Amino acid sequence: MSLRIEDHPLLDFSDKRKKPVKFYFNDREYKGYEGEPIAVALYANGVKKLSESPVKHRSRGLFCAIGKCASCRVVVNGIPNIRACQEPVREGLKVRSSKGLEKLEIKESSPPRISRPEEIETEILIIGAGPAGAIAAIKAADMGAKVLLVDYASRIGGQLIKQTHKFFGWRKYYAGYRGIKIAKILEEEIRKRANIEVWLNSPVVGYYEGNIFAVLKDKRKIVYVKPKKVIIAPGAVERFAIFENNDLPGIMGAGGAQTLMNVWGVKPGERVLVVGSGNVGLIVSYQMAQAGIEVKAIVEALPYIGGYFVHAAKVRRLGIPILTKHTIIRAEGTESVKKAIIAEIDEKWRPIPGTEKEFIVDAIIVAVGMYPDTTLTRMMGITHKFVKELGGFVPLRKRTLETTREGVYIAGDVSCIEEASTALMEGIIAGINAAKSLGYNNPVLENEAQEAIKDLEKFRSGPRYAHIKRALENVII
Ligand SMILES: Cc1cc2nc3c(=O)[nH]c(=O)nc-3n(C[C@H](O)[C@H](O)[C@H](O)COP(=O)(O)OP(=O)(O)OC[C@H]3O[C@@H](n4cnc5c(N)ncnc54)[C@H](O)[C@@H]3O)c2cc1C
Ligand code: FES
Repeated sequence: MSLRIEDHPLLDFSDKRKKPVKFYFNDREYKGYEGEPIAVALYANGVKKLSESPVKHRSRGLFCAIGKCASCRVVVNGIPNIRACQEPVREGLKVRSSKGLEKLEIKESSPPRISRPEEIETEILIIGAGPAGAIAAIKAADMGAKVLLVDYASRIGGQLIKQTHKFFGWRKYYAGYRGIKIAKILEEEIRKRANIEVWLNSPVVGYYEGNIFAVLKDKRKIVYVKPKKVIIAPGAVERFAIFENNDLPGIMGAGGAQTLMNVWGVKPGERVLVVGSGNVGLIVSYQMAQAGIEVKAIVEALPYIGGYFVHAAKVRRLGIPILTKHTIIRAEGTESVKKAIIAEIDEKWRPIPGTEKEFIVDAIIVAVGMYPDTTLTRMMGITHKFVKELGGFVPLRKRTLETTREGVYIAGDVSCIEEASTALMEGIIAGINAAKSLGYNNPVLENEAQEAIKDLEKFRSGPRYAHIKRALENVII
């Protein structure tokens, strides 16, 4: 049974399905399309269990689909611990499940590969090409700086590349455009600027004394990058929800579901339950219905719907029930999810006995929020503080977004979980200030950075974001 979407009202996947390839998973042959990740090709073929956990041998599958959770690791052509959501399939590839700690195979005949990596210098290194990093690159380049923009994804745009809905907010921050269109605009602007070099498929994997970043360029070779200034914009990580068997394959984050469905044209399931009624849960539910998936219900523990009224109304018009004061208490299945059990909860969030309902589902989509991806900022010794309203641990920063480490700026979801529009505002502030600190001047752009600071204040002054505005005062230095 194929989970590939053949007909979509907004998206066309034909350019991703140009070259069919055969590959092997646990010695069985499968068909995929060149360039799509192994986990996507297997999911399309109905294979959700990828590996087993090393200690308790529980089934493991796709969760985030963007390389951030390691739930999808497999052995590829004998190399262990490869993230199946990041590694593309190709003709004849041999993939197998991991069932414990893998043996490190060192062949005597292998030539030693210990040579000093290439070292390069740049004025501004920007890590992450989502809306925050992409706009920071454009603004820093317009100030006159030489910029290196790196991302481990294969495209510019971060989370935008899977958002098919039109964004709210202010026109000057692309409100009214679909996320996928904003990603294209940013990419085109970046490509027009000769002083921005872009390395895609290139994760930053280390940081060393002397302000040296190790970048795995093209996922093949380490290059040491020594920048004068750095902007860190790696986005966020999706949260798991706590319930029995929450690790079964087929249970994935809302962003993971969006990646499968809107980037690669593969349904996360035929019948799904969604946990969480914030904007992300509502939007993903709508998009799944649009892709022909039956959304059984959205469960929400709070007594009210978390997201915007307009998104909830669209979902309700499709006949999808939104069950407030309900939570998921258990998933059932062995190799993948087959059933979801929900229950009503009391004011202390305890399930009320006798109110359980069960849904036959083949996927559960968890949309219970994100936390800032501080992997790099912590590695660099930047000071962090736990602020619940901002999403968890976040780096301390000035209003210019420079952190406790001089010359290191942050922007976007790493600074506070908000939206694409605020990520753009922060990217503008960080990009212009980083370039200014190198001695570049441009009164018009400097004024734009000041305007963005004011816009952020205004944006956060509404009742919806006032708690963020207050909480941010705890991390400003
Ligand atoms: C499912 C979902 C729906 C959403 N819907 C909306 C919406 O309707 N409206 C809205 O305004 N916002 C929405 N958002 C939020 C919005 O997408 C984010 O706030 C915004 O994308 C944050 O931008 P960013 O640049 O900080 O991070 P991201 O867009 O996440 O980009 C970060 C980039 O950094 C890269 N990266 C991370 N670590 C490394 C590393 N070590 N080396 C190299 N590269 C790295 C990643 O590959 C990624 O491309 C949604 C988010 C999700 C998950
Ligand atoms: S790292 Fe692949 S699913 Fe999260």
